[in-house]
Amino acid sequence: MADFRLETNRLTLRSWRDEDREANWALAQDAEVMRYLPALDRAGADAMVDRFMAMDDEHGHTFWVVERRGDGAFLGMCGMAPPRDPLVEHEVGWRLARNAWGQGYAQEAARATLGWAWANRVMPSIVAITVKDNRASWTLMERLGMIRHAAEDFEHPSLPVGHPLRPHRLYRIERPA
Ligand SMILES: CC(C)(COP(=O)(O)OP(=O)(O)OC[C@H]1O[C@@H](n2cnc3c(N)ncnc32)[C@H](O)[C@@H]1OP(=O)(O)O)[C@@H](O)C(=O)NCCC(=O)NCCS
Repeated sequence: MADFRLETNRLTLRSWRDEDREANWALAQDAEVMRYLPALDRAGADAMVDRFMAMDDEHGHTFWVVERRGDGAFLGMCGMAPPRDPLVEHEVGWRLARNAWGQGYAQEAARATLGWAWANRVMPSIVAITVKDNRASWTLMERLGMIRHAAEDFEHPSLPVGHPLRPHRLYRIERPA
């Protein structure tokens, strides 16, 4: 089982453990957190953890658990997925509990993820995607220096045609020189 660990000033990004499933399920039940994400039932939330664990085992990275160093609290997840359909590039992503918003934690975790990626992997660029109404997420992308490529906006194929969460924006950041 993967045992990744990356520390920032205030946070630890680490591999998933079975005991994180409850906290992940609590996150999945918060309608505000899930406002721009496909709904998850308990089986779906656990299957997501299974996928993230398998990704970590296979690739050495995933959307890791974000823990606060001060008290060990589970704040959510942030990290990087390998290219997965419909994307052909690595993807940085984030999802935090509501009480962890507005403190710069997502930005801190995302910067650590990008720094780790450039230092430890060879890809020339990384993308992030979000639905157009998810301002909190795309403003974070912009704060990270990611650039929107409007010509690459797309309809997410995992959702039915006409679903309000189907239209996505794509942002990209190039490997620093
Ligand atoms: C997207 C998400 C992670 C963004 O979280 P966030 O806390 O707004 O993002 P940041 O870490 O960049 O924090 C920025 C905010 O913290 C404030 N902040 C406070 N202290 C800060 C610090 N030390 N450093 C940076 N920002 C700080 C900023 O002023 C800013 O506040 P504002 O939004 O009122 O302007 C969060 O909204 C979320 O989890 N949403 C639900 C899940 C989701 O939609 N995920 C994305 C799917 S694509």
